[in-house]
Amino acid sequence: MSFYLGVDIGTSGTKTILIDATGNILGEASQGYPLHHPKPLWSEQDPEDWWQATVKTIRAAVKRAKVKPAEVKAIGLSGQMHGAVFLDKSNKVVRRALLWNDQRTAAECAEIEKRAGGRSKLIKLVANPAMTGFTAPKILWLRNNEPKNFDRTKKVLLPKDDVRRRLTGEFATEVSDASGMLLLDVKKRHWSMPLLSKLELDVDLFAKCYESEEVTGNLTRDAAKLLGLTTDCVVVGGAGDCAANAIGTGVVKSGILSTSIGTSGVMFVHSDKVEIDPQGRLHTFCHAVRGKWHMMGVSLTAGGALQWFTEQLCAELARGKTDPYKVLNREAAAVAAGSEGLFFLPYLAGERTPHADPDARGCFVGLTLKHTRGHLARSIMEGVTYAMRDSLAIIEEMGVPVRQIRASGGGAKSALWRQLQADLFGKKVVTLEAEQGPAFGVALLAAVGAGEYKNIEQACAATIELASETVVDRKVKRSYDSGFSVYQGLYQSLKSDFKKISSLG
Ligand code: XUL
Repeated sequence: MSFYLGVDIGTSGTKTILIDATGNILGEASQGYPLHHPKPLWSEQDPEDWWQATVKTIRAAVKRAKVKPAEVKAIGLSGQMHGAVFLDKSNKVVRRALLWNDQRTAAECAEIEKRAGGRSKLIKLVANPAMTGFTAPKILWLRNNEPKNFDRTKKVLLPKDDVRRRLTGEFATEVSDASGMLLLDVKKRHWSMPLLSKLELDVDLFAKCYESEEVTGNLTRDAAKLLGLTTDCVVVGGAGDCAANAIGTGVVKSGILSTSIGTSGVMFVHSDKVEIDPQGRLHTFCHAVRGKWHMMGVSLTAGGALQWFTEQLCAELARGKTDPYKVLNREAAAVAAGSEGLFFLPYLAGERTPHADPDARGCFVGLTLKHTRGHLARSIMEGVTYAMRDSLAIIEEMGVPVRQIRASGGGAKSALWRQLQADLFGKKVVTLEAEQGPAFGVALLAAVGAGEYKNIEQACAATIELASETVVDRKVKRSYDSGFSVYQGLYQSLKSDFKKISSLG
């Protein structure tokens, strides 16, 4: 028998699953870890936490599945994208990693565009404009602000690739995650030597770049011993969590869009060729499908907004017996669509798509004495979904067909949030049997890498099944269409105030 592990190194925790060749999940485990915000809009994590969580969850998932060590043939790694792990010559971390939702690099984004010869030249080189969350600006930030740390840095790795280094001893990455570093020639699927030279960065700082299902190494003896596996077990490229989630939800051909509501909100479409939003609002990255690409829009705070609300303003719910999210869902479901005139802008960590604005701020607009906790919770869910509709609007404006929406992530577990997605996007929303999107996606890539399937399309066709369908309520959709134009207007009205607020610190 052959079994495959999928490990997703996320922002709130690491989730690991073990599947058989037909995609049945036989074991799973997860482990949380802290997120550090040393200053407003800074976001950091300790790579050691990812490693400890990976070891613990792999051991637990294998134990729960009751399989023999030699039967675990391959591991696929997925993870939060864009993070920068800085390693010195002995592979020690130089400082905590800077994450995807860190917003400290506005000056470096401007520097990159200048060095590249302007925004459109940069888009020509790497298919995307500079965004504060991407990796390249983080490297320049280190050089500009912590020069001693920069001088000590000999490698810069993405989060999942630092875990790979500790599993295999190899410095390797793969095209989907590498695209989000802003240093990859996305069209040709290798590092952009012209941009590296303009930024005065040595290519040796970076890992070797593979396709997602390619084998990048075997477990080292130490890692195999620690995990209770064998050195015959290989680690495949894997994928950034967005592409991994798309694989795990079967988005491997055009016409299907996947939405994911986790800490961030992601709208993801497959593309057979490199298509670029000339305004640079959507990201164009390599897909984890060989020779294919994808476009996506990212809302930085999605489920993260509801989590913030629950932790900061509903502490008494956390002390109760019922899951706080269940209580909030029930209260929110009792409120009419539109939250009786209450709007929420979910820009708690600034915003990426479509505004690319690190100064944007979260706010409730339209509060009255009538509004209850249920209204606040519902308006948060609506605000996040409006933010994701902004991305859908650009995807449709570019003429990309969207026939079906596949919902995943924590947000897809809520019937209310699925209905909000259907009504706000105006399209049928389906969910899938396997709910562990990214971990499942990379477990499938592992199966392909080990030769179980010919390619990832075949693996998806053999293993992914639809679970539920939510249809659009046309009347509610009309009211959300009007709400969407109010939502869009609010950012425009507040934009200059956000800038002033941000300059206050
Ligand atoms: C994608 C992005 C986020 C992180 C979250 O561009 O920044 O979705 O990958 O895990």
